[in-house]
Amino acid sequence: MAYENVILEKENELAILTINRPKALNALNKDTLLDIKAVIEDIKNDPAVKVLIITGSGEKSFVAGADIAYMKDFNVRQARDFAQLGQQVFRTIELMEKPVIAAVNGFALGGGCELALSCDIRLASENAVFGQPEVGLGVIPGYGGTQRLPRLIGEGLAKELIFSSSNLKAYDAYRVGLVNHVYQAAELMTEAKKLAVKIARQAPVAVGYAKAAIGRGMQVDLDTAMQIESDLFSMCYATEDQREGMNAFVEKRKPQFKAG
Ligand code: CAA
Repeated sequence: MAYENVILEKENELAILTINRPKALNALNKDTLLDIKAVIEDIKNDPAVKVLIITGSGEKSFVAGADIAYMKDFNVRQARDFAQLGQQVFRTIELMEKPVIAAVNGFALGGGCELALSCDIRLASENAVFGQPEVGLGVIPGYGGTQRLPRLIGEGLAKELIFSSSNLKAYDAYRVGLVNHVYQAAELMTEAKKLAVKIARQAPVAVGYAKAAIGRGMQVDLDTAMQIESDLFSMCYATEDQREGMNAFVEKRKPQFKAG
């Protein structure tokens, strides 16, 4: 299926979603969010895809935020609907079993930073810039930035960045744990694919359960989280991949996982 504002490519077990509105530095309007939502449904339902990479088109921007020209004349109701749509789409990324890597290739501002925050792993090019500049526009982050940024980098630093509309360059984002690695721009996609392939080689159901255990466990107290972990650990024993993985180890051969 062709999309107007995004490009979806599939390469063996990987899918690459490129946000593609270069004239607006890949800013997100309603149609772009709906395209992302449709792509996520496609990926969720495609058993061949094991890992999704999200990036932006061009060499300058990942996503420069929600589309300011599109939302500037909203009334209160429209503003709430637009925030909730973005929140829902990004939450779907976060809750999807398949891991999602953000390959942040430039500006990740406002909704762009929030999109990256909803991914499991963030990799950045040296020219990447992260920030939540919304209060400089008279609003606050609306796609989860006030919640996910403090959870990831701590409340004090998140407040400083959000209250002052300050950006973080790639290596500063690395220093505070907002990104896992920084690469030269030309290397970013190669490295993102390398990591994605390594993840895709593992037992897919186990990777999905690990994502669920971390995601759900981080929201609750430690005892409840341990229960979630042991439930999901034991559910792995309902898969053939558990038998294959452990038998392969004992038989000193490489496992052949089947995603089940
Ligand atoms: N929305 C709409 N258009 C945008 C945009 C955005 N978020 N960001 C950039 N553009 C457009 C510009 O208007 C410009 O269009 P024209 O060529 O038609 O004038 C084009 O993209 C190129 O941008 P610039 O000329 O500004 O490029 P630059 O290199 O000088 O600056 C930038 C780049 C620093 C990213 C700057 O464009 C910028 O500050 N953009 C806005 C960033 C921002 O405030 N994002 C937060 C949006 S609010 C939000 O996201 C709310 C939420 O949480 C839901």
